[in-house]
Amino acid sequence: MSRISTINSIANNLADSPISAVDLFCGAGGLTHGLLQAGIKVEAGIDIDGQAEYAFLRNNPGTKFLTWDVGRKKSSSIEKLFSAHKLRLLAGCAPCQPFSKLTQAIDNHQCWNLLKNFARFIQSIQPELVTMENVPELAERGQDVFNHFVHTLEKLDYYVDWKIVKCEEYGVPQFRRRLVLLASKLGELNVPEGRYQNEEKWKTVRSTISDLPPLESGEEHPKDRLHVASKLSDLNLQRIKATSADGGNRREWPEELVLECHKRETGDRYHSIYGRMWWDRPSPTMTTLCTGIGNGRFGHPEQHRSITLREAALLQSFPKAYQFWPPGTKLNRSAVSRMIGNAVPPRLAKALGVAIMEHVSANDSLD
Ligand SMILES: C[S@@+](CC[C@H](N)C(=O)[O-])C[C@H]1O[C@@H](n2cnc3c(N)ncnc32)[C@H](O)[C@@H]1O
Repeated sequence: MSRISTINSIANNLADSPISAVDLFCGAGGLTHGLLQAGIKVEAGIDIDGQAEYAFLRNNPGTKFLTWDVGRKKSSSIEKLFSAHKLRLLAGCAPCQPFSKLTQAIDNHQCWNLLKNFARFIQSIQPELVTMENVPELAERGQDVFNHFVHTLEKLDYYVDWKIVKCEEYGVPQFRRRLVLLASKLGELNVPEGRYQNEEKWKTVRSTISDLPPLESGEEHPKDRLHVASKLSDLNLQRIKATSADGGNRREWPEELVLECHKRETGDRYHSIYGRMWWDRPSPTMTTLCTGIGNGRFGHPEQHRSITLREAALLQSFPKAYQFWPPGTKLNRSAVSRMIGNAVPPRLAKALGVAIMEHVSANDSLD
């Protein structure tokens, strides 16, 4: 089946979906894509970043994209987006940066406000179903903020369940921990266990990217401009060549290649920086800067380069054909890298969507 007919068939099937969803902070559509695959009709994605519009619409049939600042919207504007006579799912993944390990102050921060807005919409709209994804630090360092969110839902008589999930257990070829919350007015709804608990079942870097055409540093594939390797400086090229294939790291380098900051005792903490991925393990967590070898273990397992945007998208479990940037316009690599690193992996999103669909059909049959 061609890509277009696959997209059309998804759109047609979703007209009968019992669930109508709106995705707040939708980005390029990782969360939406997985929910659609689970059979949930996503009506609209909302994001302040207009650069995400193309990717969101191109890959997610039957949706609309609204370039809105969530903090400035009335809940009535959101409420109007849902279809009548369907169960409403308010989905969202507020921006995570305020809770990164490097950030100290979290109270009164933008993220607090955006989560408050999420809670404000829930209070006013009272959708039957809610899903929220965020970084684990929200439940750890941002405990007060998160507890407030959970209590708000509980006071509104939602059944709430949340857990910190390991994405590799959901078929994502990547070690990534995320906080996932599900809530329902229909009854008990739990965050599903991953079907890939057993290490032998984990998807690996090899099973995900080894069939892509090889590239040199700085080279772009003629048919897929996302398969493009950042150009390494001569020194960084020497460094990656001095890093052994399949999991090598900078401790193997001769003295003359070692960075001054890494010679200090504290520098040794970040030993994965400039490292290569392992072929037969899931990748490290994809970040918004994951195509630079100086930002983490983002070296290709054996080619002398960092991973490409396409490889990063595949390691996030986006389908190979997912389009991120309008053809015929200059590719903004940092914008695409941000969208990929920020995304909810579609395979995790699909597992959540399937759990929500099963919950709805179980509760429907009780009527
Ligand atoms: C973690 S990302 C969401 C990723 C997305 N759910 C996905 O799966 O691809 C957070 C998003 O929030 C958006 N954002 C930040 N502030 C916002 C605001 N005030 N209103 C709407 N969107 C906002 C960012 O542009 C970013 O795309």
